[in-house]
Amino acid sequence: MRILVLDNYEEISKKAALMIASQVMLKPNSVLGLATGDTPLGMYKELITLYNKKEVNFNEVRTFNLDEYYGIDRENPQSYYNYMINNLFNSINVNRKNINVPDGMAMDVEAVCRCYENKIKEVGGIDMQVLGIGGNGHIGFNEPDVNFEAQTHLVNLNAQTIEANSRFFKSIKDVPIKAISMGIKTIMNSKKIILLANGIGKAEAIERAIKGKISPEIPASILQLHNDVTIILDKQAASLL
Ligand code: F6R
Repeated sequence: MRILVLDNYEEISKKAALMIASQVMLKPNSVLGLATGDTPLGMYKELITLYNKKEVNFNEVRTFNLDEYYGIDRENPQSYYNYMINNLFNSINVNRKNINVPDGMAMDVEAVCRCYENKIKEVGGIDMQVLGIGGNGHIGFNEPDVNFEAQTHLVNLNAQTIEANSRFFKSIKDVPIKAISMGIKTIMNSKKIILLANGIGKAEAIERAIKGKISPEIPASILQLHNDVTIILDKQAASLL
């Protein structure tokens, strides 16, 4: 596990974008695993800047998002599909047919999850997976008490996550209580992982994930067992290390 502690959010965003761009330069048809939330927004902006400067070309890239709210359709402004379109895909030349986000309106959830896993396998697995981390140590929507063996599945969001995500909704009652998420096994099968965290609110989760015991209580702690993880932190997120 490599740990990079940088001065601020801008620096971590630039570093992560450069790592993704390098991955795509070395393997133009890379399979990228992508995250949503506040943390990667700066990184997506930097990637768009690199694309506009013609430093990186996404036309062969395939993407798989970590998760999507269950019961929300893609056109909903709160969907993670919509987030990706607005914050990245509309501004780069990724081919829409190469974008994959779990279908939050799936009727047969199990079949959709199986299909997602198969599709990841068919393209040769995820080359580089980007992760944020929840204040409770979740990665994707794999909440505490996680099953480390799970693949893409339907999850119940826990109270802390619903509370944290309510900032994006009119009222906490509007926050979906379930999501479809890649499982820990899916994430651990990625060839490379980069996890970004900024701000004091992530310091405890980072400390427990990196220095604590590997335990389902802190889902991100499993990353200690992956052989190619880079953790990119600002000073606040690293303050308890
Ligand atoms: C998002 C995701 C979540 C977030 C985490 C942190 O696709 O899977 O694990 O990365 O909840 O969210 P932010 O970045 O908003 O603090």
